Amino acid sequence: MFKGVLFDLDGVITDTAEYHYRAWKKLGEEIGITIDRAFNEQLKGVSREDSLSRMLAYGDKENEFSTEEFAEMAQRKNKYYVEMIQAITPQDVYPGILDLLKSLKADGKKVALASASKNGPFLLNKMEIETYFDAIADPASVKAGKPAPDIFILAAKKVGLTPEECIGVEDAQAGIEAIKKSGALPIGVGRVEDLGADIALVPDTTKLTVDYLVAQWTDSFHEH
Ligand code: BG6
Ligand code: MG
Repeated sequence: MFKGVLFDLDGVITDTAEYHYRAWKKLGEEIGITIDRAFNEQLKGVSREDSLSRMLAYGDKENEFSTEEFAEMAQRKNKYYVEMIQAITPQDVYPGILDLLKSLKADGKKVALASASKNGPFLLNKMEIETYFDAIADPASVKAGKPAPDIFILAAKKVGLTPEECIGVEDAQAGIEAIKKSGALPIGVGRVEDLGADIALVPDTTKLTVDYLVAQWTDSFHEH
């Protein structure tokens, strides 16, 4: 049976994926790049700097800015984002997540955060759920961001487990790819159109119960 769960944050624990999108959209408008939700699927899970690079490439502007301008734009997007998340409260935790965290704790499972966001610790604090996490993998300390597996490998290691002993929960294409490469079992929150038909998917977080996780874990071993 699995021994730990590695959680993505934005779009899994709370609705901050929406705020990341709005902040990128606002920055985009200021620099003449229009993004939509379909393109945004490619930004989900991706680090701040890599997201900006992808956005500039999308707008055919990858050679238009100096290193200083690039850094300023990344900072500006973060400023917009940080303004938006000030008002987050425990009420903003997605339905079902608190129960899941409590049940995992009661069952003796390890819980780790594997988010690409440098704002992760701030958000866990705002939502008052940091005590449920045995470890937070620091995205600044991994070489490669999602879709590379590094952050999931680090998160597992920080709770004394191998990725093969863990389930990873993600809402992003890049994140699912990262979980697969790490060796953990992926569970997606979202749509088949976005995340693919080859992994277990829940349409929303109310379906993320320990029973569901156990069933997916058991199923994945019947298949192999
Ligand atoms: C991920 C988000 O969790 O964190 C991305 O899905 C975001 O949209 C990334 O770019 C980095 O976040 P931050 O807060 O460090 O800019
Ligand atoms: Mg996410």
